Amino acid sequence: MNAIAHGIDLVECARLQVSIDRHGERFLNRIFTPGELAYCGSRKREIEHLAARFAAKEAVMKVLGTGWSGGIKWTDIDVSNDPAGRPAVKLTGKCSQKAAELGIDKVLISLTHTAGHAMASAIGCGKI
Ligand SMILES: CC(C)(COP(=O)(O)OP(=O)(O)OC[C@H]1O[C@@H](n2cnc3c(N)ncnc32)[C@H](O)[C@@H]1OP(=O)(O)O)[C@@H](O)C(=O)NCCC(=O)NCCS
Repeated sequence: MNAIAHGIDLVECARLQVSIDRHGERFLNRIFTPGELAYCGSRKREIEHLAARFAAKEAVMKVLGTGWSGGIKWTDIDVSNDPAGRPAVKLTGKCSQKAAELGIDKVLISLTHTAGHAMASAIGCGKI
């Protein structure tokens, strides 16, 4: 398995909170999957976890080298956590098609967050 592409992103928690306050449920459901919303909603500092997933989605878009065009949806990128808390990314729809075109079989992700900011790093791996 080789590293094919890398992407990072940094999100300001307060700015994401402004968007959520302004656009509410519609915004949340457009950006996050039900699993992501359930996980973040179960945590004490929900906004930090949401911001980390927002950063993860942007970081994955950098791995794929494409913008939010061509029918790619935010919810095509889903972040889940294993029982030890380790995050994993699942791609669906146009996102998984684009990854396949690039020879990417798997995307590794790492997240970190504080009250102010959340950051994600994503690495696309494949056999190429
Ligand atoms: C990984 C760990 C060191 C991070 O702690 P931290 O520096 O306080 O937290 P950060 O803000 O930098 O990072 C938090 C993110 O780390 C990631 N993370 C958590 N546990 C992780 C693990 N075991 N491996 C890799 N990443 C992990 C998560 O993505 C988390 O964000 P999320 O909850 O929004 O998904 C800490 O959570 C830890 O020690 N976890 C292991 C716990 C464990 O093994 N539990 C046993 C099972 S119950």
